[in-house]
Amino acid sequence: MSSKEKEVTETSEAEIAVHWGEEQLIHPSTQFIAQANVTDPAVYERFSLDNFPNCFKEYADLLSWYEYWHTTLDTSDAPCWKWFVGGKINASYNCIDRHLAKNKNKTAIHFVPEPENEKVEHITFQELYVRVNEFAAILRDFCGLKAGDRVTLHLPMVAELPISMLACARLGIIHSQVFGGFSGKACADRIVDSGSSVLITMDSYYRSGQLLDHKEKADTAVADAAKEDQKVDKVLIWQRYPGKYSAQTPLVAGRDFVINDLLKKHYGARVDPVKMPAEAPLFLMYTSGTTGKPKGCQHSTGGYLAYVTGTSKYVQDIHPEDVYWCMADIGWITGHSYIVYGPLALGASTVVYEGVPNYPDPGRPWRIAQDLGVNIFHTAPTAIRALRKTGPDEPQKYNYHFKHMTTVGEPIEPEVWKWYYHSVGKGEAAIVDTWWQTENGGFLCSTVPAIKPMKPGSAGPGMPGIHPIVFDEEGNVVPPGTGKAGNICIQNPWPGSFQTIWRDRERYVREYYEHYCKDPKSKRWQDWPYKAGDAAVVAADGYVRILGRIDDVINVSGHRLGTKEIESAALTVPEVAEAAVVPVKHELKGKEPDLYIALKPGLTGSDDLAKRIQDAVVKEIGSIARPRKVWIVSDMPKTRSGKIMRRVLSAISNNTAVGDVMTLANPDIVTEITKMVQGK
Ligand code: WTA
Repeated sequence: MSSKEKEVTETSEAEIAVHWGEEQLIHPSTQFIAQANVTDPAVYERFSLDNFPNCFKEYADLLSWYEYWHTTLDTSDAPCWKWFVGGKINASYNCIDRHLAKNKNKTAIHFVPEPENEKVEHITFQELYVRVNEFAAILRDFCGLKAGDRVTLHLPMVAELPISMLACARLGIIHSQVFGGFSGKACADRIVDSGSSVLITMDSYYRSGQLLDHKEKADTAVADAAKEDQKVDKVLIWQRYPGKYSAQTPLVAGRDFVINDLLKKHYGARVDPVKMPAEAPLFLMYTSGTTGKPKGCQHSTGGYLAYVTGTSKYVQDIHPEDVYWCMADIGWITGHSYIVYGPLALGASTVVYEGVPNYPDPGRPWRIAQDLGVNIFHTAPTAIRALRKTGPDEPQKYNYHFKHMTTVGEPIEPEVWKWYYHSVGKGEAAIVDTWWQTENGGFLCSTVPAIKPMKPGSAGPGMPGIHPIVFDEEGNVVPPGTGKAGNICIQNPWPGSFQTIWRDRERYVREYYEHYCKDPKSKRWQDWPYKAGDAAVVAADGYVRILGRIDDVINVSGHRLGTKEIESAALTVPEVAEAAVVPVKHELKGKEPDLYIALKPGLTGSDDLAKRIQDAVVKEIGSIARPRKVWIVSDMPKTRSGKIMRRVLSAISNNTAVGDVMTLANPDIVTEITKMVQGK
């Protein structure tokens, strides 16, 4: 394909990304700087490429190791990097046991139920220790699980989620948590891919005031996994109200086990943490990519834990005495790294909130902050937009004070950033805009808050030890300060990076490393820049502004959804011949999928059919992927070679110029679809 043709046949989020001007720098307060973990700009020098890879010892030394490593970075299987080889470590020990001597009576997890009349649960490090040990005993002795086995978790935002993760980590069992809002079918796909024979779930949880039956999804998940020859022997079920089963769905004898019952038999059990090799996988986290099949990003134990602990300390500025609240879902990487592993490794108190931010009203987050004395807050632009829209004056009504706030997941509009800064942060908090991905384990670009000033709308420069570079398609460097966008890459490996795609090394190499690798046989890390798949512009001062995805991925409320996944879901409806998904701008969610459908010959569309297609998407993936609208069109705009022109559909959905369409095989269809979608 010529590059000209490529240009017109592909669409990307970056093409329709908002463009805003460079903003003024804002400096953090002297009060913040006075207490910050890192204030010395020499940190950038210590983590320079000259000191790579040994600089990362600084992060690894924040952890307790059974045995030190002999090789910091082993590149012999490039681009599958091995960090801290020879080292022995346990993540559960680092997040719990090592804090007991001094802090066993300190809160590790504040669990905030969604209903406001339910008491907040303050779980001390001692209690976390007890609960993790007893549950680990169930995994080992009742389920017969051992290091290296995979277990799928499909849990909502409850304290039992980190407890389950840490129990797995204690034994070296690889956990794979599936976002609670995903459907049973989506859970099944991940059970099959990971090869899990145990599923850990919960009977029910609260969302927007309703107690949802969550166990129902487990039945679908197990049945669908069985169709793909993956047998789930045991479903372990936490009870939202211990002692009371709160789902409508009946238990299946011999398969379903209520954890709260099993625990009675394991009362007082203690399980020694297993001394794991640093490069043993800690967990899988599935994410969307350019094909329909989600990829299981495989994260290591030692490198990952070192990286999230280091970045939690330096960028999140977590001290053990802080009350830290990250409002993400633990079902996404942000929650793994910055609700569970990073904060707990540092001995902080971390908040787990069950529900939606603006339930029952948009003052809720600020009441939680006030009641618990939260002083570090972390959320995504989509939540900030929603809270700003529904309760712009709410923060000032509450007496809380944040020293530090984070934004993550998608570009944040400068206007929204300013509301976050002035209203939520009351002008007192330092903000970090952190750019990174599921694949990366932790932050790639961000300011180190006491050293670099903030710039609304820009993530900031590469993190210490992370050296970004922007390339054009051909691999020429796009220098900073030119105002030109390109593909952002990272020149060097780092300890938090995923090790591979679970059971698919080839796809790992192809999607992230092949494009800019000049010598596929090379064992030198210098030859393998990591391609993130985002378009970015770097200003003269080195601050990076991320524009959006260059591939077929849509960011909906900060969550990555593959257009191909949604299209495949639509194609499960028998009447559908072709499906095309494009991102459309949404005031709160950032982007929303718009779904175009062409039916098989002789069929005509109806509201009922459109509804069935919507339902199919929700059933296959979950309601997060629900299209804004299903447009049943008589034909798709196509090139002469028969390719669907998603760029044209995207322009129609977003009310932007469709450009020249005369080279299409069927230019007339553009007018017809425009009329349908825009009513003109
Ligand atoms: C986008 C979330 C702009 C980006 C941690 C990336 C961002 C994708 C930012 C990864 C940010 C994440 N500014 N865009 N601060 N953070 N993104 O895997 O397109 O769910 O590739 O990881 O979100 O999403 P993921």
